[in-house]
Amino acid sequence: SPRVITTAAELRAATVKLLSAAGPGPVSLGLVPTMGALHEGHAALARAAREENDVVVATIFVNPLQFGDPRDLDRYPRTLDADVELLGRQGVDLVFAPSQDEVYPDGEPLVRLSAGGLGEKFEGEFRPGHFDGMLTVVAKLLHLAWPAADAGYRAYFGQKDAQQLVLIRRMARDLNFAVEIRAVTTVRTAEGLARSSRNRFLSDEEADAALVLSRALRLLEERARRCKPLDLDSAVALVHSQPLVALEYFEVVDPLTLEPLAFNCRETPFTEDGLALIAARVGSVRLIDNQPLKAE
Ligand code: PAJ
Repeated sequence: SPRVITTAAELRAATVKLLSAAGPGPVSLGLVPTMGALHEGHAALARAAREENDVVVATIFVNPLQFGDPRDLDRYPRTLDADVELLGRQGVDLVFAPSQDEVYPDGEPLVRLSAGGLGEKFEGEFRPGHFDGMLTVVAKLLHLAWPAADAGYRAYFGQKDAQQLVLIRRMARDLNFAVEIRAVTTVRTAEGLARSSRNRFLSDEEADAALVLSRALRLLEERARRCKPLDLDSAVALVHSQPLVALEYFEVVDPLTLEPLAFNCRETPFTEDGLALIAARVGSVRLIDNQPLKAE
């Protein structure tokens, strides 16, 4: 079972010790930031980090700064013991589970990161301020776990949260964070539903209805791969055919800028990949999913 650490000072001491024990020679640290309530999606991140690094640190912190609605923050599931066990099974060395005071000792930070215009589209439209709060805590967590200058540093994020991943890559690039951002493919149930901590709030009937999201995305992926017209309208109609699902957005965008994209695989030379983004309410639960599009 991994050691659970709650203070920044202990985290620093523990990573220094583990990294020097992993040497001599080049060593690297892999960081897996999470909010807990862990599932197979998080496990895949931890496994990727384990395969690629000498020392793996996972963080569990429910970040108030990225929640708009305090009720949403309150009802966020907290399952620390099970989380630590899951991380242990993936070979994680240290679990950093700080208190709010440890992360925000002066209360809400005065100086924060801004996700700019990219943070106002799609999820940002439904969750104002969410991405600013997310980037601020990711920057802080990256700094809290930062290894010595001679060690490699990688941080792991899920493709599931596509807009988050794009913004974290942009933060690292725009602000010169010398950390390699690694993306991990979305983990799904056998039926195709993207794993999410929120899935536990779906009734059986709602979980069944929610499958229409991944089905619609798969339709687009198949058409893109076979170089056929995407016909987004018919994919949208498929989602609308499910009365329990209220669609919020469904668009094909540029994977780096999230600008609208007319995916056309016959363009020569074919340069642009696409990304299909979808969000919907199923009952009281907001679900997001996405699918990278690529012609074969
Ligand atoms: P959380 O929702 O706990 O997710 C932690 C990481 O797990 C994110 O990088 C997310 O994309 C990834 N993840 C979630 N479900 C996944 C799935 N089905 N397949 C693959 N990866 C999946 O995202 C956050 O926390 C927070 O915003 C955080 C980055 C920790 C900052 O607070």
